[in-house]
Amino acid sequence: MQFKKLLLACGLSGVALANNSTLTTNTPTAASGCSFSAYTATDSKGVAKVAACATAIGDVTIHGSGAPSTIDLSSVKEIYGDFHVSNVTSYTLLAPNLELVSGELELTGNTNLATLNLAQLVTVGTLRLEALPNLSKTGLTSGITSADSVIVSDTGLSSLDGINVFKLKEFNVNNNDQIESINSGLEQVTDSIYISYNAEKVNVTLDKLSTAKDVYLESISSFSAQNLTAVNGSLSLYSNSMDKVEFPVLKSIDSSLSINKNDDLNEVNFPKLEKVGGAFVVENNDDLEDLSGFPKLSSVGGSVNMTGTFDNATFDSLKKVSGAFYFDTDGNATCSAFKKLSVQGKSKCHASTSSSKSSSKSGKSSKSDSTSKSSSDSGSDSKSSSSGSSSSSKKSEAIVNTSFSTFAAVVATFFTAGIALF
Ligand SMILES: *[C@@H]1O[C@H](CO)[C@@H](O)[C@H](O)[C@H]1NC(C)=O
Ligand SMILES: *[C@@H]1O[C@H](CO)[C@@H](O)[C@H](O)[C@H]1NC(C)=O
Ligand SMILES: *[C@@H]1O[C@H](CO)[C@@H](O)[C@H](O)[C@H]1NC(C)=O
Ligand SMILES: *[C@@H]1O[C@H](CO)[C@@H](O)[C@H](O)[C@H]1NC(C)=O
Ligand SMILES: *[C@@H]1O[C@H](CO)[C@@H](O)[C@H](O)[C@H]1NC(C)=O
Ligand SMILES: *[C@@H]1O[C@H](CO)[C@@H](O)[C@H](O)[C@H]1NC(C)=O
Ligand SMILES: *[C@@H]1O[C@H](CO)[C@@H](O)[C@H](O)[C@H]1NC(C)=O
Ligand SMILES: *[C@@H]1O[C@H](CO)[C@@H](O)[C@H](O)[C@H]1NC(C)=O
Ligand SMILES: *[C@@H]1O[C@H](CO)[C@@H](O)[C@H](O)[C@H]1NC(C)=O
Ligand SMILES: *[C@@H]1O[C@H](CO)[C@@H](O)[C@H](O)[C@H]1NC(C)=O
Ligand SMILES: *[C@@H]1O[C@H](CO)[C@@H](O)[C@H](O)[C@H]1NC(C)=O
Repeated sequence: MQFKKLLLACGLSGVALANNSTLTTNTPTAASGCSFSAYTATDSKGVAKVAACATAIGDVTIHGSGAPSTIDLSSVKEIYGDFHVSNVTSYTLLAPNLELVSGELELTGNTNLATLNLAQLVTVGTLRLEALPNLSKTGLTSGITSADSVIVSDTGLSSLDGINVFKLKEFNVNNNDQIESINSGLEQVTDSIYISYNAEKVNVTLDKLSTAKDVYLESISSFSAQNLTAVNGSLSLYSNSMDKVEFPVLKSIDSSLSINKNDDLNEVNFPKLEKVGGAFVVENNDDLEDLSGFPKLSSVGGSVNMTGTFDNATFDSLKKVSGAFYFDTDGNATCSAFKKLSVQGKSKCHASTSSSKSSSKSGKSSKSDSTSKSSSDSGSDSKSSSSGSSSSSKKSEAIVNTSFSTFAAVVATFFTAGIALF
């Protein structure tokens, strides 16, 4: 039955295991006493029972302060099932001949663990290293090339050496304050990339990555994804210290794009980005004055909120926003870039220097008036609207969808005048 799990894992991590298809056709056989059903070892004797198995079938857990200070599993080569080591006070875990864990390999809450030997490990279902403050090295000498998910959280690791995977469901690296560099050969992530709170100056390089679903980046000082062409979920850059961000070949983001609270960010470049399926949010980036890095962006499927001190906002291709639209700058950018825009929701553009009339009002107060009502700003995944696109953008009439009737008409009036207020 654990074998079933293996097959499942293989199915999910297709590309990874396709690297070595012998693994998927392997039929495990185990010596007697090595076929477990959720076996938990809590002392030396229990650990010895596991240690005697070259091949173990079933879920194996080593748990608690009764485990020996050195857990020696040198004879174990394969575990068909999950392998958990949790809350042990052990200092050392040796599994130098372990090649395969078909389910989850989880080491968690082992606060003393300082030495880990996984020299031959190449294949795991999920690798989960969590709450291992004294562990500075992964001990992956051969390195894993097949895995379904990799989660490294709250460890003392200084690098991700030996995690050499190409395709993953989840890549999650957070709260490892000694990791200063993440440079991965990952090519595809089908679920999420989550990187946050590692070393303050962490540089992240994912230059082989071509597609990902959700990407969340926080507390990063530089980021590079030279080959990322599609984000099939959301892309979020939150509270990073990078001064520049560039996605040179990214063409589409299926859900939302959020660039928020990146205090040093002064350059944002998405030269190929054509479509954002959900919300488009740029706010609280104190140094970001230039918003001209979206030359190809033509449609936003959710709402737009761009708030900041922008001196330059050019959106040469932007034609359609399916949610609400809100632009507010204290800098000298104007609303002219949005004149031809078709907005289906509420719309407001406020610029302190305006080429057109009515720049007189004090932005701040009109701002607080308006926001109380709208609040539909994060109407992110409004994919529905994309189909009926042909209706809009007749000419340079700003707002189109007349089912908003008088409301829209009012917006349109103000909008063509260069400013909308409410
Ligand atoms: C494993 O797959 C990756 C990505 O598809 C490929 O670059 C690599 O050469 C493969 N390795 C082997 C040993 O087949
Ligand atoms: C594939 O995995 C099997 C079982 O672990 C191993 O014997 C074999 O050498 C591997 N083949 C390659 C090309 O890595
Ligand atoms: C390990 O310890 C943590 C924190 O003390 C606790 O939350 C967790 O439930 C324990 N794990 C197990 C499997 O007992
Ligand atoms: C880490 O290792 C040091 C010395 O080896 C030890 O004093 C400490 O208790 C260990 N655990 C933690 C959580 O630092
Ligand atoms: C991170 O990148 C910056 C700028 O490229 C560089 O100066 C620094 O040395 C890098 N840090 C590490 C740990 O590689
Ligand atoms: C970029 O991704 C494509 C697949 O979209 C792949 O064929 C190509 O080899 C990748 N290039 C690099 C430099 O990784
Ligand atoms: C991701 O998005 C791209 C571009 O829209 C599309 O071609 C691709 O099929 C999508 N992949 C998945 C897994 O949805
Ligand atoms: C705004 O940026 C665009 C693109 O970089 C540039 O062509 C244009 O001259 C800039 N406008 C101003 C007023 O700086
Ligand atoms: C915007 O205004 C600032 C000062 O308020 C000025 O230094 C800058 O040159 C202006 N930028 C443009 C593009 O006019
Ligand atoms: C836009 O973002 C700003 C800054 O976070 C926020 O104060 C405001 O309420 C948002 N406006 C709308 C209409 O969502
Ligand atoms: C306007 O929007 C409503 C509701 O979102 C939709 O049902 C209607 O088809 C749209 N009309 C046009 C002309 O786009």
